Amino acid sequence: MQEGASHMYKIAVIGGDGTGPEVVAEALKVMSAVAKMKGFEYKTTEFDFGGERYMRTGEVLPENASAELRKFDTVLLGAIGHPDVKPGILEKGILLRLRFELDQYINLRPVKLYPGVDCPLKNKKPEDIDFVVVRENSEDFYVGTGGTMKVGTPDEIAIQTGITTRKGVERCLRYAFELCRKRDRKKMLTLVHKTNVLTYAGDLWWRAFNEIGPKEYPDIKLDYAHVDATTMWFVKNPEYFDVLVTSNLFGDIITDLGAMIQGGMGIAAGGNINPEGVSMFEPIGGSAPKYTGKKVINPLAAICAMGMMLDQLGEHEAAVSVEEAVKTITGTKLKSLAAGKMGYSTTEVGDLVVEALK
Ligand code: IPM
Ligand code: MN
Repeated sequence: MQEGASHMYKIAVIGGDGTGPEVVAEALKVMSAVAKMKGFEYKTTEFDFGGERYMRTGEVLPENASAELRKFDTVLLGAIGHPDVKPGILEKGILLRLRFELDQYINLRPVKLYPGVDCPLKNKKPEDIDFVVVRENSEDFYVGTGGTMKVGTPDEIAIQTGITTRKGVERCLRYAFELCRKRDRKKMLTLVHKTNVLTYAGDLWWRAFNEIGPKEYPDIKLDYAHVDATTMWFVKNPEYFDVLVTSNLFGDIITDLGAMIQGGMGIAAGGNINPEGVSMFEPIGGSAPKYTGKKVINPLAAICAMGMMLDQLGEHEAAVSVEEAVKTITGTKLKSLAAGKMGYSTTEVGDLVVEALK
């Protein structure tokens, strides 16, 4: 990754569906301001992938989409999901396909309660909720292996299998260990799985974790929690966690809970990361069709996703500046993070973040 003003970052932008383009516009506004302030340059190129394009052309994603995106340094995504398209088509055909083809094997989801944000958990403060979930993003039940027989009959059978590979698990674990070391907080990595029932996949994770940990990361404390218990701890003692690492589907589920305890979908951001390739950053809230065009949706999640993107590009100072600006406005301006209840429009929130940049 190159750093500094000499490099012109090439950024692909996929606004996508529903409120995606609106929130991405605010993220780009903030990026433009922070780039001037911190002295880096970039060029954006827009791609029209999403439900509208699918309905217009009948094509979910052009054949060469990932080859095109590979020419960029990174991708910023708004949202995928259209009310007039059958669920699954766009999600699988765009989002999951890009994650797989670009081998974005990490789904990074910070769970952080910002100042002033209403937390549904009683008496929890920003210092209590600050952890990161490292979700494996390329295997497990997401690979789509399986099949059906006798569909529509009383004898119908469905088999859906999850794939877990030693390589896939190891690269994910190493990423999580490194992150835990870099965060330098509790230095505790919690493996989340269901080893008491998933005795094959869970055992692979367990052994890899316990072999790699002590040998390569003796400074990191190893911790384990079953996924069901993890949901309980997220609500009961979120302050316990530092970095968590888990398989794809478990990670999907626990990070929705994570998003809620940090104040909801208005603020939750994530990155689909290929540490050796092209990553893709997104607000994790979805396309929110009922709010489309109303200018009431909260752009902070998209702005935070953009901040994560800058961090991944190596613009650490700019990333910190974006996050601090977001904290300033949650702490001093916004009435709520919920769509329509912020006390400001989507574009005004973007402006407030720009004003708060330091
Ligand atoms: C997410 C979403 C996706 C997932 C869906 C839309 C395929 O829920 O990014 O968490 O399951 O990964
Ligand atoms: Mn999800």
